[in-house]
Amino acid sequence: MKTVGLVGWRGMVGSVLMQRMSEERDFDAIRPVFFSTSQHGQAAPAFGGQSAGALQDAFDIEALKALDIIITCQGGDYTSDIYPKLRAAGWNGYWIDAASTLRMKDDAIIILDPVNHKVIHDGLNSGIKTFVGGNCTVSLMLMSLGGLFENNLIEWASVATYQAASGGGARHMRELLTQMGMLHNHVAKELQDPASAILDIERKVTELSRTGVLPTDNFGVPLAGSLIPWIDKQLENGQTREEWKGQAETNKILRTSSVIPVDGLCVRVGALRCHSQAFTLKLKKDVPLAEIEQMLASHNEWVKVVPNDREISMRELTPAAVTGTLHTPVGRLRKLNMGPEYLSAFTVGDQLLWGAAEPLRRMLRLLID
Ligand code: HSE
Repeated sequence: MKTVGLVGWRGMVGSVLMQRMSEERDFDAIRPVFFSTSQHGQAAPAFGGQSAGALQDAFDIEALKALDIIITCQGGDYTSDIYPKLRAAGWNGYWIDAASTLRMKDDAIIILDPVNHKVIHDGLNSGIKTFVGGNCTVSLMLMSLGGLFENNLIEWASVATYQAASGGGARHMRELLTQMGMLHNHVAKELQDPASAILDIERKVTELSRTGVLPTDNFGVPLAGSLIPWIDKQLENGQTREEWKGQAETNKILRTSSVIPVDGLCVRVGALRCHSQAFTLKLKKDVPLAEIEQMLASHNEWVKVVPNDREISMRELTPAAVTGTLHTPVGRLRKLNMGPEYLSAFTVGDQLLWGAAEPLRRMLRLLID
């Protein structure tokens, strides 16, 4: 049985990972060792019903060196600090990471096994030991549109994202909900009076939003009742770093021989933990819509093609419907006015599940099964 070190299991992504590993009984198949950056010596948690002794020090290279596999959701700073030291100390175990730090390294593979299981298996056979979860929008796009990529039908993809607060982190979710509550409280009395004027209510809300009293430490500006057309750092070419990842990671995950252009605009919206994405796809040839739907639906067991119908789309193709599930539905499929090779698509997926935790635990299973 492999000894598996778990670092960053208490954070948001780590908590979702622990929940999924418990549900899938992954703990039955490993000897878990829990690490902490601040509380070593205290009792370790007992996920999966197994007691795991005391928390170990997440900065103790000797303790980490004893492990067969390390899974970390501790974040990029931890990876930047510990990973090089551990490899320099001669550790040759498997490193499975949620952070982006190592993603684009030549000796690391971005893991999304329903999409790139061959790339992962080839990597394992050639001795790769470092496996990194992809950016959430990229992973969710590939889970939903995998059938078209697999059939080599996509010439390019243009995307507008609608990204949830959770992508920023736990504090961002709290901030959004606090902002929502404050805006509501400010006009709660007027809302109860059906005779009140909606434009007066809107004016009060807008004024409050502009006074600077809403908490904005995490997002920088109010998100409730608004949106933010910028995610992550600014690059010199005018892209955001989130937008840059779209093409870079997609092509690395798929190991394409010639680059498939992927670009667009990444936008933060007031959803909680589901990222949605609106695509314009240029196909390499005119394929009938029914064939496209068939390719998409048969690609993996989590994607579902939602018929391009008003009622069904409103019911099934929303963050509210998908949150907390492993479904990665795709809908709003139709040929665009630009021509028969231009296809629209809308996808939704939980960014903490397929967008973060799920590929990590599935990589673990590939190593231990
Ligand atoms: N960068 C993503 C976001 C989250 O901010 O929504 C994780 O990939």
